[in-house]
Amino acid sequence: MNPCTGGVMKSSYYFEVIISHDFLPHCFTLDCWFGIIMAKRIAVIGGGTSGLACIKCCLDEGLEPVCFETSDDIGGLWRFKENPDPDRASIYYSLIINTSKEMMCYSDFPIPAHFPNYMHHSLIMDYFRMYADHFQLKQHIRFQTKVLRVTPRPDFSHSGQWDVETESKDGRREKQVFDAVMVCTGHHCHPHLPLQDFPGIDMFKGKFFHSRDYKNPEEWRGKGVVVIGIGNSGGDIAVELSRMAKQVYLSTRRGSWMLNRVGDKGVPSDMIFNKRALKWFLGWLPVGFSNSWREKQLNKRFDHKLYGLQPAHRVFSQHPTISDDLPNRILSGTVSVKPNVQEFRGSSVVFEDGTVEDDIDLVVFATGYTFSFPFLSSHVIPVSKNKVSLYKYIYPPGLERPTLAVIGLIQPLGAIMPVSEMQARWATRVFKGLCKLPPISAMTKDIKAKEQAMAQRYVAAQRHTVQVDYIPYMDELAKQVGVRPSILKLLVTDPRLALNVMFGPCTPYQFRLHGPGQWEGARQAILTQWDRVNEPLRTRCTPEPQSQRSSHSLIFSVSVAALLSALYYSRASLHTLIADPSSLLDKIRALVPLPLTTQ
Ligand SMILES: Cc1cc2nc3c(=O)[nH]c(=O)nc-3n(C[C@H](O)[C@H](O)[C@H](O)COP(=O)(O)OP(=O)(O)OC[C@H]3O[C@@H](n4cnc5c(N)ncnc54)[C@H](O)[C@@H]3O)c2cc1C
Ligand SMILES: NC(=O)c1ccc[n+]([C@@H]2O[C@H](COP(=O)([O-])OP(=O)(O)OC[C@H]3O[C@@H](n4cnc5c(N)ncnc54)[C@H](OP(=O)(O)O)[C@@H]3O)[C@@H](O)[C@H]2O)c1
Repeated sequence: MNPCTGGVMKSSYYFEVIISHDFLPHCFTLDCWFGIIMAKRIAVIGGGTSGLACIKCCLDEGLEPVCFETSDDIGGLWRFKENPDPDRASIYYSLIINTSKEMMCYSDFPIPAHFPNYMHHSLIMDYFRMYADHFQLKQHIRFQTKVLRVTPRPDFSHSGQWDVETESKDGRREKQVFDAVMVCTGHHCHPHLPLQDFPGIDMFKGKFFHSRDYKNPEEWRGKGVVVIGIGNSGGDIAVELSRMAKQVYLSTRRGSWMLNRVGDKGVPSDMIFNKRALKWFLGWLPVGFSNSWREKQLNKRFDHKLYGLQPAHRVFSQHPTISDDLPNRILSGTVSVKPNVQEFRGSSVVFEDGTVEDDIDLVVFATGYTFSFPFLSSHVIPVSKNKVSLYKYIYPPGLERPTLAVIGLIQPLGAIMPVSEMQARWATRVFKGLCKLPPISAMTKDIKAKEQAMAQRYVAAQRHTVQVDYIPYMDELAKQVGVRPSILKLLVTDPRLALNVMFGPCTPYQFRLHGPGQWEGARQAILTQWDRVNEPLRTRCTPEPQSQRSSHSLIFSVSVAALLSALYYSRASLHTLIADPSSLLDKIRALVPLPLTTQ
């Protein structure tokens, strides 16, 4: 057992050990010794996708996780409930994820081959349950236990410890000490409902609510509906309601580029665009050129200007809205795209272009979310309009000890799950002292640089405060952990794999090929990723199309057979044949009615 990689030896937490440095073998740090003596206890707040990854990573590193989850089950946002829990995100019944299964899985646990590429939330829950069962994570979760307060202990500057106060369902409060805390409470829980921007809403005669409270469309059959906001919630809800409602008006103050799940040749589009080679290539091009290239592609599918969706900003300046169906609904007139709402008048809605739509029964505010950390004192992680200053979106830089990590507070252009997992892999190694954070000045510089880059690239909006590009961010973290794939090394040792890593989709398995947490199934998972994409699509044996090529080859085969037969029957008079080759042609004509010509 290597003490530095964490020998798990459970011990009473309050057991105190006094070890003189003189006793330590010279290569061991005090932390290593404590690693042998007792596993550090880590409080994981939240049992959603990020929380599950944290429990698993703690166990991998020999730490002792205790996860607190307010609700009675795992899954966080992905567990559908007709009546939302107060502290938990809430989704609509038809929700289908917009990140494909090979791109969203945990890096050492591929999603079963037969699962569809874009899964309904119920299947996502099935997958999370398999993950939790396989790695025996649930036994580390205390359900129906809410974290009320997390405060640094008086000796925090040298112990790095936290007091965590919880409340169980029956109102029982408890305080425990932890060596580190992982905050996994999500950032799509609290609705952003900017009613102050909508004069007259208080007198609106119909019903209005935030997209978090939307569940299904039945109630709105034959009604007039306005959906405000064109993020993925607004897009999905407008499409679904348009199949039931009399008319849906989709109001957007800025417009949006519309991406789709179904990429070229039906391949999941995130598997086409999240490729190292493509990112590398685009990185070399001027930003304006990459934008134009992508916008041209999107306009080929439908003209964004013609459909009233074209924004003033470029395609890479906005978090993508993904909807394969919206253009279809616009073309069929069931969704009308409108500008921003100017005011509400009784049951009418006045838009900024002066148009008025009457008899509106429902307004859905699909206007996004806000987040906060109510259990932390505001100076630990100050948040203002969804802006936070965290080193690599994880660590509050001002803490004397790096024992608090926020996991999953990112909006990747890709799936959150593998990113949360990678953050957790790094954080657990930081807690153990195996990875070090830089000094506060360097962290602040990095934070500022990221803020500037985001401000330069993205439209200024509350929804664009924690944006990360999937591959560069994963690589950045992977480098810290020591698991970033080395393409050059792979080219020498395993060229087939190297080509897949470089030119194939950047699936999470790439970060399990070597280094801490290496998984021996990673190589095979990469080489078989397209099989798992194809598997759920093979639901009917399709006949081979009768191509021109095959009918030509049939003609050729029959002709050869006829020629050989004619030769066989003429073998007795070969000399006549040599003297008069056209007699052979007559013999072939007699055998097969082929369109042979003598010209
Ligand atoms: C409609 C919608 C669709 C989305 N689709 C995608 C997608 O296609 N792909 C993608 O990658 N991401 C998507 N997201 C983003 C989504 O946030 C992530 O997929 C994911 O759910 C984040 O997981 P999480 O564990 O960080 O947070 P959550 O899933 O929100 O889990 C947080 C957990 O913390 C618990 N909790 C909160 N406070 C406390 C407390 N004080 N004490 C104890 N427990 C607490 C909650 O009960 C909850 O279980 C979507 C978001 C929305 C709103
Ligand atoms: N199927 C899926 O997988 C799926 C479905 C839903 C959501 N999601 C994810 O969930 C997250 C949240 O998405 P979301 O759509 O709920 O929120 P969002 O991405 O934050 O979008 C909010 C929308 O509301 C608009 N808005 C905000 N304030 C406004 C105001 N005062 N007046 C007018 N418009 C305003 C925004 O416009 P501006 O752009 O002008 O600010 C934007 O169009 C995202 O990560 C998204 O990808 C995924």
